[in-house]
Formats: sequence, structure tokens, C-alpha cells
Amino acid sequence: MIKTPRVAIFASGAGSNAEALIKKMHSLGGQVEFVFSDKTEAGVLAKAQSLNTRRYVIKKKADRLQHEQEVLKLIDQHQIDWILLAGYMRLLSPSFLKSLAERHEGRAQVVNIHPSLLPAYPGAHSLERAFADQVSESGVTLHLVDEGMDAGPVLKQAAISLKEFTAFADFKASVHRLEHQIYTEFLEKIVLGEIPTHYFKETVKC
Ligand code: GAR
Repeated sequence: MIKTPRVAIFASGAGSNAEALIKKMHSLGGQVEFVFSDKTEAGVLAKAQSLNTRRYVIKKKADRLQHEQEVLKLIDQHQIDWILLAGYMRLLSPSFLKSLAERHEGRAQVVNIHPSLLPAYPGAHSLERAFADQVSESGVTLHLVDEGMDAGPVLKQAAISLKEFTAFADFKASVHRLEHQIYTEFLEKIVLGEIPTHYFKETVKC
């Protein structure tokens, strides 16, 4: 029997991706361990609460390393295998990723979803910038996370033709639907073991 991976979601915003992931986990008979946010006012927290999912907030601090040390305590407390970034608008430091990798046989196991065909339009307001530039095609990228901004090995990309859209709101809604589809498919694959998990191991504390 495959052990169900322990998943945490990190989000700073409205939380539509987090909601889709939590619901998918429920439909697979599991539970997302917790939703973490760096913003007390993030909409994702109410969504997680309404879906009976544990929530933690550690507000952004000037000292990123101190912030990450506190986050790492949550990872250890819940023995998290995968971190799914869903609109988490903060870069992860190399030392944080290294600490995660030490717990999973050399793999950090952090995944991010981004609303563009990376490497095009990394960072914030990607949808707005692509729409304003009237690009012919945009889309969604799911990727493993490294220390760069919206950078790391691509797991999946899916394109959307902008010719179909005259209204920005329709384009945005379509990209969000695609994100939810791609991210929940990925979650299903890790839960079913179709994508292998390197399970959390306690690090030796000296
Ligand atoms: C999503 O479009 C996600 O791809 C994006 O933030 C949005 C969060 O929406 N992430 C990034 O831009 C990462 N650089 P949500 O809060 O409704 O899931």
C-alpha cells in the first residue's frame, strides 16, 4: 500500500488553487496537512477554514532566514513531504531549499504554478502583462522550485490562445481553470504514487 504523501500548501492570495487542491485531496480520501500564509488578510485562509483545513500564518519578516526557520519548524512538526506553492509571493532561499532537500533524500519537493509559459512573464502581474502585450499565446507552467523567481525544472506546460478573448476577465478565468486542472492532476499523481515521493526523514540534530 502506498503511503499518502503529506502535503502543505503555501499561498499569499485569494486561494482558488489551494481550494481546488484541498477538494481534490478530499476526493482522494486524504487531507492537506495545512495551508500556510505569510499574510493574515489572505483570502486563502477563509477558504481553507471552510474546508476544515489547518491554517498557519507567519507574517513576512524583514529577516527572510528567520521567517524560514519558523516555517521549517512547521514542516518538521507535520513531517511534510511536498510543498505546493499556490500564489505564494515570496522567494524561497537556497538554505531553506537545502534544508528541505536534506529531509527528502536530496529533493526539496517544492512545486509552483505560474500563469504564463515560463520563461516568459515571470514574477507578479503576469496575466496583465501578457494581455497588455497582446501576445498570441499564453498559458500555465507547473514546475519544481529552485531559488530563482518562477524558476526550476518544468513539470508541465499548457497553452491558451489569446485570440479567443477580448475581455481580460475571461482570459484570467480561463487561465485559472487550466491551473486548477493541471495542479489537481499533479496532486492526484503524487497521491497515487505515479510520481514518486521521497518521504520526509528526520534530520539528525546535534
Ligand atoms: C495564480 O494565478 C498563480 O499561478 C499565481 O498567483 C495566482 C494565485 O491565485 N502565482 C504566481 O504568480 C507565482 N509567481 P489563487 O490565489 O486564486 O490561487
